[in-house]
This record gives sequence, structure tokens and C-alpha cells, in this order.
Amino acid sequence: MRFVHFSDIHLESGFDGVPARAFLNKRFVGWANLALRRRRHYQGATERLEALESFAREIGVDVALCTGDHTALGTEPELAQARAALGPFERLPRGLVTIPGNHDVYLEDALARFEAHFGDLLRSDRPELATDGRWPLVRLFGDDVATVAVDSSRPNPSILSSSGRVPDAQLEGLERALEALADRFVFVMTHYAPRLASGRPDSVSHGLDNADDFLRATARARRGAIIHGHVHHCFVVRVPETSLPIFNAGSTTLTGREGLWVYDVDGTRATATRGRFVEGRWTLDEDSRVDI
Ligand SMILES: [Fe+2]
Ligand SMILES: [Fe+2]
Repeated sequence: MRFVHFSDIHLESGFDGVPARAFLNKRFVGWANLALRRRRHYQGATERLEALESFAREIGVDVALCTGDHTALGTEPELAQARAALGPFERLPRGLVTIPGNHDVYLEDALARFEAHFGDLLRSDRPELATDGRWPLVRLFGDDVATVAVDSSRPNPSILSSSGRVPDAQLEGLERALEALADRFVFVMTHYAPRLASGRPDSVSHGLDNADDFLRATARARRGAIIHGHVHHCFVVRVPETSLPIFNAGSTTLTGREGLWVYDVDGTRATATRGRFVEGRWTLDEDSRVDI
């Protein structure tokens, strides 16, 4: 079964209809950053995502996995646009699994909006394994593969912080789910990076508060991979704290740093191959293929 993992698409095409009061907070700083700098780096993001959907069909992808940050500031038009842009991925043979990133739940007011637009995607095939509302979300793919997603994103009203945390109850659920699914290859999905490419934790202001606890919860998994985004560089790293390799798709639509992973998994073997965006086309970098 073939999976494509993309992340941090950060779609945004203006804020028509968003009331001014929605910007009387940290969102104003985020908006200024967009207007002055960020928007330039994400020009063509929608086209790159559309090209990815065609590429996914061309190379026979069964399932799309997205690890959050669909938007820039979690406003109504952005969430509506992002949800519509994901539609074609839902129609892949076995559909789409996605989770929120911190930009999707940028401030408290975005939580209900994310739920309204993306709630139908946040479903679990094993709801009895949930320990914190609907989380962790479990999806089963055939007899050999599953995804277990935990939510590490939260609103961050301070302009100095964009850190995340997996609630303790979800870590318990994650351990339990990994035990229950021990006969499958499991993708553990979350938005935040438990480690950087160097193997070291991310900074206090940008990282996952309880990265060590999260890694501990996955330490005994038999077969699988941790997959995430948030840090806008595509990489894979192995660390002694967990048996699972850690794959970051980076930001799939960021000009010059476009990243994604394609995973091929069957009952006995799993590999990961990096995708690159070269001269306006997605391509698989066969030389990058690694065994998982
Ligand atoms: Fe991001
Ligand atoms: Fe993020």
C-alpha cells in the first residue's frame, strides 16, 4: 500500500469578510509577517498542491497523510479554502488522514472553526481506544497498516510562543493503541517535531513541550514510523529514545524547500522515498529510498 505524506501547506488567499476584531491580537503580528515576507514564499502553494494530487494518482498512491498547518492564521476563508483543496485527496482509493497544526488553531476563536470545517475528517475506526475526547484517532488500512494520530497543537496567544504539547491523556491512549495494534505497521502522526534533524529537541518557544514523554510512549512499538511537520525542512532522523524512525515532510508548498515522503508498506517490508519539486513537477528521488 502506498502513502503520500505532506504537511504545512499554509494556504491563504486573503481575509475577505474576516472582522477587524479578529486581528486585534497575535493574529495582527502574523498578518504583518504574511504581508511583508511569508506570502512571497507561499506563492504558487495551491498549484503545487494540485500538482501533488495528479502526481499521487500517477504513482498509485492509496492514502494521503497530512500533518497539519493547512492555513496561515486559522480564519474562516483560509479554513474553507484549505478544506476544499483537500477534497481531491479524500477521493484517493483509501482517502485522507489529516490533523490540525498550530496555525489552524492559531487562537482560541479558531478551534470551533477548525472543527466546523475539518470535524468530519477527524474520525476513528477504533473509537474505544480514545482517551481524550476523540483522540487518539485510529484509522485502519487493510490488515497490515494503521495510523494513530495525537493532537499536539493548541492556540498560543503569546506572540513569543508557538510551542505544542500532546495532552497526557492522549499519550496514555497512544501507548494503549500501539499495544492494541502491535501486529500492524503504525504511522504515529502529530504536528510538532519531537526532534530536529540533528536529533536534538526543538527550541522551547517552537518545540513540543513533552517531546521526551511522547517518544517514550512510542518506544516499544514494533513496526512503524513517527510522521510530523511544523519544522519547515524535510528530513528523517533516528534517535535512541524510540524504536521508530521520525519523518518530517517539512513544508510541502514552501518555495525552494518543497518536501514530502512516499511510504510503501506491506506485511513484511516498508520503505520511504523523498519527493521533490523540480522545474514545476513533483518527482520521486529514488536515491533517497530508505528501509523503515
Ligand atoms: Fe508550518
Ligand atoms: Fe506548525
